[in-house]
Amino acid sequence: ELSPIDTAKFVAAKRAVQYVEDGMRVGLGTGSTAAWMVRCLGERVRSEGLKITGVPTSTRTAELARQVGIEVTTLDEAKWLDLTIDGTDEYDPDLCLIKGGGGAHLQEKIVATASDRMVVIADPTKGVDMLGAFPLPIEVIPFGLQATKGLVEELLAAMDVLDSKAVLREKGGVPFVTDEGNHIVDLHLKRIQDPRKLSMVLNQVPGVVENGLFIDICDAVVIGHGDGRVEVID
Ligand code: A5P
Repeated sequence: ELSPIDTAKFVAAKRAVQYVEDGMRVGLGTGSTAAWMVRCLGERVRSEGLKITGVPTSTRTAELARQVGIEVTTLDEAKWLDLTIDGTDEYDPDLCLIKGGGGAHLQEKIVATASDRMVVIADPTKGVDMLGAFPLPIEVIPFGLQATKGLVEELLAAMDVLDSKAVLREKGGVPFVTDEGNHIVDLHLKRIQDPRKLSMVLNQVPGVVENGLFIDICDAVVIGHGDGRVEVID
């Protein structure tokens, strides 16, 4: 028996994998919602003999994809993708997103940008009028980490978007390390009035590899509800 939140994630995932057609190259997102999608896609591969190639956005997802029988390759091998399906931390009415709660937004953004379409799967708790309640992750290279973090804080304060502070993400008492060997700094912001501008400013800072704002990348959000209903915004 699934909890309402898992039901929501499952029904969204099940609907979203219907976008996948035979022969497609598919970007596979990261996170608990995306994991439902990978399992649902594996089910279609096994039961329908669907032939697809998956490009995982993290080592975690690659492992799960293999376990459920999805053939995986790299983005460079696949060259271009027909579709990427991923979860999100927040989506707004313009289908802009905050991602990176799982620390994989760098690969996720590269993969989604190299796809004809990006479909996001979510539960209703992820929907917001204005992005920014969820701390915005930035991936930062280890060299000069404190200098980079300090400069980002100064810039955000000057733009009057900083709410409290920038926090180096830790796991088990040590800095969290991404698949690319970098760290994550979580930015606690006021509501983000201008995500385009903020995204550009952050990516100008030396040492910042990529921020978690997805703008003009997502084409549709499939929202699952705890009672099994599904709605799509596109
Ligand atoms: C991973 O880096 C994130 O972008 C995830 O897509 C996001 O954190 C969603 O995860 P859940 O589906 O577990 O909420």
